[in-house]
Amino acid sequence: MPRLDQLLASLGYGNRRQVASLIEVGVATLAGEVITKPEQQVRDVTQVQWQGRALEAPLGLLALLHKPVGYSCTHSSNEGPSIYDLLPPQWRRRNPVVTSIGRLDKDTSGALLITDCGSLVQRLTSPRAQIDKVYVAEVEGNLRPELIEIFASGQLQLRNEPTPCLPAKLEILQPQRARLTLQEGRYHQVRRMFAAQGLRVTQLHRESFAGHGIEHLSTGQWQLLPLPEGHQRIA
Ligand code: URA
Repeated sequence: MPRLDQLLASLGYGNRRQVASLIEVGVATLAGEVITKPEQQVRDVTQVQWQGRALEAPLGLLALLHKPVGYSCTHSSNEGPSIYDLLPPQWRRRNPVVTSIGRLDKDTSGALLITDCGSLVQRLTSPRAQIDKVYVAEVEGNLRPELIEIFASGQLQLRNEPTPCLPAKLEILQPQRARLTLQEGRYHQVRRMFAAQGLRVTQLHRESFAGHGIEHLSTGQWQLLPLPEGHQRIA
């Protein structure tokens, strides 16, 4: 059972000292009762209110971001704009850290899940999980119909990879535009699959990840999602 000050600090409400002094003046309640002891143990974190409001994602945070082109998925501040600049500053102070589930290249836009729940990252990035990732790519050169079979064959070999790509579904939408559904996530996989067939990807967008589409989100926007059952952050 976490202490109240520990819990609040781990959810990004301030450092232990800051939250403790606010607790002492009576801004926290537990099941409707004002708590003024920072060391109070909390059995049910969903019953805590802070400054009159329920805690944000106290059991674990899951969000869907429409990543814009030009943002990297790193936590480092030396690599230009980062997706974490688009998220509430309080999320950066959470512990466990809020991180993306897999990554998109700086030049790729689209659906990206964000969480502080390690078991969810593991589940959704495991090669065995068979999670659909749906991309739309624009390419330089013409998409030949035989690519559909080549991508579906399970035999497409990428450079420096010991095993071929798993079967992937290619739909040719226009002569230079295609939708590709993958169930794995190798480094730069989409760009490398097309490159293996002599095609350079000029634009790449992920329409959906694990069934989460972003049609309703404008670029740079995010939304909180319910945490799937059986997953919880371990603070
Ligand atoms: N494949 C790529 O080449 N880039 C991405 O960002 C994602 C998949």
